[in-house]
Amino acid sequence: MPIYHKLGNIPPKRHTIFKKPNGDFYYEQLFGTIGFDGMYSNLYHENRPTQVKKIAEPYSVAPKIAKAVNIQSYRLKGFQVKSENDYLDSRKIVLTNSDCNIILAAPKESTKNYFYKNTDADELIFVHKGTGKLRTHLGNLDFKYGDYLLIPRGTIYKINFDTTDNRLFIVESYKPIYTPKRYRNWFGQLLEHSPFCERDIRKPQELETHNETGDFLIKIKKQNQLFDMVYATHPFDVVGYDGHNYPYAFSIHDFEPITGRIHQPPPVHQTFESDAFVICSFVPRLYDYHPDAIPAPYNHSNIDSDEVLYYVDGDFMSRNDIDAGHISLHPAGIPHGPHPGAMERSIGKKSTNELAVMVDTFKPLMVTENALKIADQDYYKSWLD
Ligand SMILES: [Fe+2]
Repeated sequence: MPIYHKLGNIPPKRHTIFKKPNGDFYYEQLFGTIGFDGMYSNLYHENRPTQVKKIAEPYSVAPKIAKAVNIQSYRLKGFQVKSENDYLDSRKIVLTNSDCNIILAAPKESTKNYFYKNTDADELIFVHKGTGKLRTHLGNLDFKYGDYLLIPRGTIYKINFDTTDNRLFIVESYKPIYTPKRYRNWFGQLLEHSPFCERDIRKPQELETHNETGDFLIKIKKQNQLFDMVYATHPFDVVGYDGHNYPYAFSIHDFEPITGRIHQPPPVHQTFESDAFVICSFVPRLYDYHPDAIPAPYNHSNIDSDEVLYYVDGDFMSRNDIDAGHISLHPAGIPHGPHPGAMERSIGKKSTNELAVMVDTFKPLMVTENALKIADQDYYKSWLD
């Protein structure tokens, strides 16, 4: 996140002596991305963060591909994904390519006896149902319905849920996820025409510092394998840090829609970007106000991107028979558009309450076995009169 943030205690100058009240050293760690060219933070630990005790045999968490090459539109009934007690077990990859995994999860329990770290991917968690606290070694974030939680790769975290009724839509990205560049000036500040600003970005304010030794299990995801690694010191032992690389939260309800006299294209809804996909937020908004405007989208050929829409709440004006928790997949190469009657229905409407998250990937997505378990196989015929 291109906003400087400081939390806890840090020395006045980096890479200099920093001691505890008892005279012992704190230990500095550079937590950076893209070699030394990307965003980074400088962390100060109670203990050296390198004290590995044990590494267990890894096990595969690779997605099981059902259709490697797909040209069929699908509707996935996301709420049919069964809830599971464990957070990591609950995460079901439904769509995947070499840039990202798109995941549905219904975890019932908070992570208890392990910490988790994804070394390869940034994680963007959209909270559809549930409240709780994301606990990280860079500070904690409270979350609720409608929050995006951006967790940079390498962040060690736990997740606490207040109840057992939780639904998450997650994008795991092997490319860093940023807010759109076109909304920032050359200093990184969000511009006046941006649909959100710095005040809407929630940064960690609460830092947990545990100076403890023992056996601390971190489940570490690397190259589709999960490694159980035991460390000798508590992973949450940071006394302070500063920089630009840290987890943050942004609520979809704080996205201010851009509207116009005639239909606005999807980029006005863009919220995040990477080199490999864009993420858009469709939020309640006034419809187009030209007297002859057609609020429903036109048929469109996303010739070189697959389009994934995750439906969150409200009426979805361009679709028939779509409910909250559903995903529509409209693959690259074939046109799609409003369902029969939806265009006509939209004329004269003044506003919409739809709430949805869209992921457009530039490489085609593969369909997994998990996806086919919840797929409507006839959806691709749903445009027939
Ligand atoms: Fe579309």
